Amino acid sequence: MRQDISRAGLWGCGMEIGAVTPGSTALLPDPETYELEYRFWPWGRMINRVVEIVVETAPPSAHIFDYMCGTGFLLSQIVARRPDLIGQGCDSLASYVTYGLEKRPTLALALGDARTYSPAKEQDIIICTSGLHHLGVQDQEPFLRKISRECVQATRVLLAEEALAPYGTDEERLRSAVQLNCDLVRLGLHEEWPSAMIHAVLDILHNDVLLRGECKRDLKGWTSLVERYFRVDSIVQTWSAPSGGGDYLMLCRPLQQ
Ligand SMILES: C[S@@+](CC[C@H](N)C(=O)[O-])C[C@H]1O[C@@H](n2cnc3c(N)ncnc32)[C@H](O)[C@@H]1O
Repeated sequence: MRQDISRAGLWGCGMEIGAVTPGSTALLPDPETYELEYRFWPWGRMINRVVEIVVETAPPSAHIFDYMCGTGFLLSQIVARRPDLIGQGCDSLASYVTYGLEKRPTLALALGDARTYSPAKEQDIIICTSGLHHLGVQDQEPFLRKISRECVQATRVLLAEEALAPYGTDEERLRSAVQLNCDLVRLGLHEEWPSAMIHAVLDILHNDVLLRGECKRDLKGWTSLVERYFRVDSIVQTWSAPSGGGDYLMLCRPLQQ
């Protein structure tokens, strides 16, 4: 099976990748389970870090837009600590947006496809955490180009991603994807996470290995893609996976316009 996937060139060939409908085929848990992940998974540390950075650096009354915002958890944490900020977000999963709006009615969350949705106004900070890899590989660069065009010179862009261990070939990429998720399963078993958290990792393993709506890259792959449209001022790692890779935040500004 692994050889077949590698030979088909799933990663390298647009045709096969195109068979995966980005944003709709990844199996994601229900919204409550998704939010529970923030308490157990290392990703929760990334969310806390992004909150800290925005809370500490956003100008007064700044506009913050969160692409692929899920249930709006990140925005809710930001505005709880900086009520002067105007937070908005969009996500294409109706159950997440509905849950977010019911739980946090003051948040401006919209149901929308990040590839085409644009905020009405220029933003001071644009965020996208764990979103890029939910786009098909052929949609990741156009999305970055789109948000770079939505920036003014002062806009800051925070892109957080899960990176695979470095790989060269399709087969190595598969191995890295398996290893990253095995690291999470091992961590979960060691820390005795609730079983729903382990189930969720196993679903992601499926998503990653079969490119079912998730297309992760290694750190070099992410930075070289992002640097086509942004200057990456710094990279912060919030989790280092034992097998390589982990969770990274790229703090970016638009290239000179
Ligand atoms: C792993 S979750 C990340 C949620 C949140 N940003 C976080 O860091 O926890 C990926 C999110 O991207 C959303 N998504 C996937 N494709 C999308 C698209 N084309 N447009 C908008 N949202 C999309 C999914 O519905 C999901 O909520």
